[in-house]
Amino acid sequence: VQGPPAPAPAPWWHARRDELLRVAARGTPRYVYNLAVVRERARALNDVAAIDRRFFALKANPHPDILRTLVSEGFGLECVSLGELQHVFGLFPQFAPGNVLFTPSFAPRSEYEAAFACGVNVTLDNVEALRNWPEVFRGRRLWLRIDLGRGEGHHAKVKTGGSASKFGLPVAALDVFVARARELDVRIVGLHAHLGSGVDLPKHWREVYAELAGLADGIGTVETIDIGGGLPIPYKPDARAFDIAAWADGLAEIKAAYPRFQLAIEPGRYMVAESGVLLLHVTQVVEKDGVRRVGADAGMNALMRPTLYEAYHGIHNLSRLDDAQSLAFDVVGPICESGDVLGHARPLPAATAEGDVLLIADAGAYGHTMANTYNLRELPQEDTIDG
Ligand code: LLP
Repeated sequence: VQGPPAPAPAPWWHARRDELLRVAARGTPRYVYNLAVVRERARALNDVAAIDRRFFALKANPHPDILRTLVSEGFGLECVSLGELQHVFGLFPQFAPGNVLFTPSFAPRSEYEAAFACGVNVTLDNVEALRNWPEVFRGRRLWLRIDLGRGEGHHAKVKTGGSASKFGLPVAALDVFVARARELDVRIVGLHAHLGSGVDLPKHWREVYAELAGLADGIGTVETIDIGGGLPIPYKPDARAFDIAAWADGLAEIKAAYPRFQLAIEPGRYMVAESGVLLLHVTQVVEKDGVRRVGADAGMNALMRPTLYEAYHGIHNLSRLDDAQSLAFDVVGPICESGDVLGHARPLPAATAEGDVLLIADAGAYGHTMANTYNLRELPQEDTIDG
């Protein structure tokens, strides 16, 4: 008989509370990333023997220290814009272009030209680009992004497959694409699919690999199969951590069934989400019509995820971490939008007051990189610690 599940270990920031309070005193809003967490994630994925190539989707967090940490663990980088490519080669001028994957969406012709000029791997997901810009693609090696006909993920806005989605070449259009590629002497060396973000189904990636491997057999020139990113993290207190061991077993099994291809992944969130916290100061505590609200010095301008996806992030009063969380508060920002709510009915200490430091958990992915200056509020600061 199995006992109750072991309690989840306390997040890293519990033990660093005094340090984080000192950091917050330098000014908020401020993101803090713990590089040790990023390194630990990288090593966990490096231990998965079935995976041959690992690209970090740097859209999740392009902070230079994060990229240095992942690159020193052997990760390649996945970029989606010329800006991201320039960021990478600005930081690492000697970086092997073969370790960079360019996976843009509806990018202008000039970005494909620039990407080929730097020698990185380039992914395309429609035949129109081959037809309209034959000189750009003639004689190139190319990765092809496939739409497997369905999307997955934590919210409709992050599903990237199926006919409602702008991404990927439908399987039904593959023959036309391959024929056009042959005419241009384009060699399809990679097959790629990324069906969405925050996919809580360990078997998803092995299914994607099997489907792509079946298609790759028909193409004949494919060397690498890229099964995307999308690995989830447990944002909610009752959520279970993603079962990386079951995931790895599934990959090993499917790789054994189709051993001829290199298996590539491109996770973003999984590598960095739990490494990061967003520190804020409480500005005002107000009760209106029976609803208590804690105001913070940033909201949807610093962290868009709750507003955009109704995403959950743990919210803690770092100044009163040992107090009972005895009252429910809505935690709101200073932005002139009713959607500027970081959390609804969150338990916080009754004594929560102006000047307290709030910690928004699991904010290392799609946090600062999606922040904005709406209402002419300043972008959050960023710091890294290691350990
Ligand atoms: N590869 C491609 C082609 C992608 O479009 C993405 C994410 C990734 C990899 C990395 O996905 P991840 O492992 O991070 O799930 N802002 C949203 C997530 C948008 C994801 C965009 N594409 C959020 O905060 O949930």
